[in-house]
Amino acid sequence: MNPSFEPKILAFLCNWCSYAGADLAGISRIQYPPNIRVIRTMCSGRVDPLFIVNALDEGFDGVYVGGCHIGDCHYQDGNLYTLKRFDALQKLMDLTGISRNRVHLKWASAAEAQIFADNITYVTQVIRDLGPFERDSRLLPLQAMKRTLTSQRYRWLVGIDRKITGDKNVYNEKTPVPLFEKVFSEALQGEYQKALVVECTKDNPLSVHEISGRTGLPPYTISCRLNELSQDGITGIGRVDGRTPKFISRAA
Ligand code: FES
Repeated sequence: MNPSFEPKILAFLCNWCSYAGADLAGISRIQYPPNIRVIRTMCSGRVDPLFIVNALDEGFDGVYVGGCHIGDCHYQDGNLYTLKRFDALQKLMDLTGISRNRVHLKWASAAEAQIFADNITYVTQVIRDLGPFERDSRLLPLQAMKRTLTSQRYRWLVGIDRKITGDKNVYNEKTPVPLFEKVFSEALQGEYQKALVVECTKDNPLSVHEISGRTGLPPYTISCRLNELSQDGITGIGRVDGRTPKFISRAA
């Protein structure tokens, strides 16, 4: 590990709390590591997980999202959505092998300058311990994460999560949280695997075994995902080498 490594961290700070907390920390001369670069947002709920993955893809070693305490969001439940999306993002990161500790969500009010400074100190140390983010060796999972996060199925499930687990439907039924989480985890895994296959095959045709070699997924899983992608009209046979079909994706 390089002892002089200093992580570059992108911080999305909610205007009403963490950003004001950072301001107060500055006015109060409270010290914290100078590793963050700040983007002010009106609510932590405005931070799409895609922004976080883009930050890693753009060369940041980690990302910090700062929002109001639960119950204090100026848009009522913006940070409840943040919490759900962040949890989903970390689950997705677990599938990719990129450490979930590269991204952090913390709450601090406008008056909690010391807590804000402590959060930044802690997060900087965690990311410093992880070392630099090796973007070039993570291109495939990064691109697949972006594709997953923009998929219709992922966005729909994240969008209805709180509604169907919190409110009763017209039959007076509520979806139990563990059931929803199971469905969501399976969907997330399926979308990520499909995204990996599409990313591998979008430029040149590959066989099932070649895709398996690049993604690390078992050939049986690749075949299942290829079947789904072909039903969606995204992937098909590009050419046949001898008796081996090679698949290509038409997705942008
Ligand atoms: Fe701060 Fe929503 S307004 S998290």
